[in-house]
Amino acid sequence: MKLIKRPRRLRMNQNIRDMVRETSLCVKDLIYPLFVVEGEKVKAEIRSMPGVYHFSVDLLIEEIKEVKDMGIPAILLFGVTSQKDEFGSYAYKEDGIVQKAIKEIKDRIDDIVVITDVCMCGYTSHGHCGIVEDGEIVNDKTLDYIAKIALSHVEAGADIVAPSDMMDGRVRAIRELLDEKGYVNTPIMAYSAKYASSFYGPFREAADSAPKFGDRRSYQMDYGNSDEALREIELDIEEGADIVMVKPALSYLDIIRRVKDSFRVPVAAYSVSGEYSMIKAAARMGWLDEKAVVMEVMTSIKRAGADMIITYFAKDVAKWLSTQ
Ligand code: PBG
Repeated sequence: MKLIKRPRRLRMNQNIRDMVRETSLCVKDLIYPLFVVEGEKVKAEIRSMPGVYHFSVDLLIEEIKEVKDMGIPAILLFGVTSQKDEFGSYAYKEDGIVQKAIKEIKDRIDDIVVITDVCMCGYTSHGHCGIVEDGEIVNDKTLDYIAKIALSHVEAGADIVAPSDMMDGRVRAIRELLDEKGYVNTPIMAYSAKYASSFYGPFREAADSAPKFGDRRSYQMDYGNSDEALREIELDIEEGADIVMVKPALSYLDIIRRVKDSFRVPVAAYSVSGEYSMIKAAARMGWLDEKAVVMEVMTSIKRAGADMIITYFAKDVAKWLSTQ
């Protein structure tokens, strides 16, 4: 048989495979999520996310130094607190946990991008991402709170704010308030296509942010939809989003690709808690090779079109990339 075309020619050894590889993962693609709590000398492992911790501010600083030394350019910060009320007012307090953490990071470490999650669910007594009236999550009233939270983060020193509440119009509300206060150069990374996903389970344990009644399906997206993601992204870009996000990542690679093909803005993908825990659990059982699977998953998220990946595996990936 005379075969002219032989795809295997380009797979014959590692050097050739490297030369023709279309997608490469780089430490600069990574964003590392971190949870900060009150107290001192706290480094407490999250039960459903082995290898992920609650840090008090003092130990958070040490952790971020390590993250920075590994070459990871950015962190995404979440505050965890027991100080909750109906309006999530602790979320925008000047001396709230996130605000304190940001100030300390900015005082002690230079040259790391601090992104903050802007939401209410970790701060409200009902666990929803907005103001609740008569059992309903009220959109427009929530916008003032979301904008206030974002401003308080920026005033503390946050480099980028990332609203994750999925209320309509929140990007505009944040942009307007930040601009009014003179923060015209602070980018917004919008959780634009955020699905109502069961993969957030472990995170809700970590952030103590599970809804006390109902679910988030009246504001987060239905996983059966894909056109809707494009509409959400388009709106957020119109409202002033600088970076858009698709979340979760692994079950939504098609969405990442459509977004990348449809818009000319940087796309972030959030490989969420459940994606992390799933791999961790299988690896612990000895059923999967953790490193190999994580590198495959991360590369696939980039191949789908993500410019940056938020992942709890960021430190591991950084380490594995540097020893390749
Ligand atoms: C807050 C928020 C959530 C996540 C990020 N920001 C949880 C949720 O919407 O319930 C999930 C992150 C993860 O699962 O890793 N709204």
